[in-house]
Amino acid sequence: MKELFGELADGTKVHRWSLENGGTRLKVLSYGGIVQSLELPDGRGGHTNVSLGFDTVEAYETSSPYFGAIIGRYGNRIAKGRFSLDGEDHVLPVNDGGHNLHGGPEGFDRRIWDVEGFTSGSDVGLVLRRTSPDGEMGYPGTLTVRVTYTLTARGDWRIDYEATTDRATVVNLTNHVYWNLAGENGGSVHDHVLTVAASRYTPVDAGLVPTGELAGVAGTPFDFRTPKTLGADLRREDPQLLYAQGIDHNMVLDKGLTERPEHIAQLREPVSGRTLSIATTEPGVQLYTGNFLDGTLVGTGGLAYGRGDAVCLETQHFPDSPNRPEFPSTLLRPGGTYRSTTVHSFNM
Ligand code: GLA
Repeated sequence: MKELFGELADGTKVHRWSLENGGTRLKVLSYGGIVQSLELPDGRGGHTNVSLGFDTVEAYETSSPYFGAIIGRYGNRIAKGRFSLDGEDHVLPVNDGGHNLHGGPEGFDRRIWDVEGFTSGSDVGLVLRRTSPDGEMGYPGTLTVRVTYTLTARGDWRIDYEATTDRATVVNLTNHVYWNLAGENGGSVHDHVLTVAASRYTPVDAGLVPTGELAGVAGTPFDFRTPKTLGADLRREDPQLLYAQGIDHNMVLDKGLTERPEHIAQLREPVSGRTLSIATTEPGVQLYTGNFLDGTLVGTGGLAYGRGDAVCLETQHFPDSPNRPEFPSTLLRPGGTYRSTTVHSFNM
């Protein structure tokens, strides 16, 4: 189902698509490809929205910290907004303490996408398309992007990303859903239990840019190799936590970059028993504990979101890879196709 959701400040219409399969309900905006809500059965005949969002286009346009949005062209930071490719220097606008974050000030999260619904066998879904012009937000190459959201018969939400270019460029796409498995107005997620198959992570400097080191998680707050509550180590005295006011770090997935999505993380809310399992082709995942939510944004449930009221698990290549030849490459050349898949499965 497609309906008018609202208008941007310049009068552009924003539509909302609603789909449902296997008990999962998804509401998606043509603006930013934003997942405005993701609802799961509550076991009592109703549904619970487990992703943070807003009621109005205006709130998304003026104050969203990327709630549910497609992030591009480059998820997370590129140091100082600079990189060079084939001997050519590229300068990107900086929008985060002197760095380029999530594709810049007018990233894919703030663009209108062409949306088309589909059904295929027992799947239902949406195809979101956008052509990002050569030089948009400083990035070289015309980037033709297709993002497919699929709801499967068992209620999984799968995202397939594809992109091609007409000039060498860098690409790192993700989605910025903020999870709260107790419900989007459920308060702190510090009791959620997380497991991540990552023995290393990428420590950052004070500007949250990786130092280049791949550090072991053993003995650090970043060790989620066995199930641990999100809050357990969050207040430990560790300079990495102080930089980010919590966790806002790329976990180096043990499986590395894979052809097919492989299981990497599980998030469980103990009261409802609701579980989210994530499988991805990506070599990394940004674990972000909602540190910058400060009680000033009021969500779809009518309550303000405070620090730690959600967790993001943004599957990705590592931040600042264009400046780190030792990291898995984010380079895309003409003739090649960027592909990435992430599957979210729910146990309700
Ligand atoms: C990512 C970044 C954070 C922050 C959030 C959104 O997780 O790493 O620093 O920008 O997005 O606020």
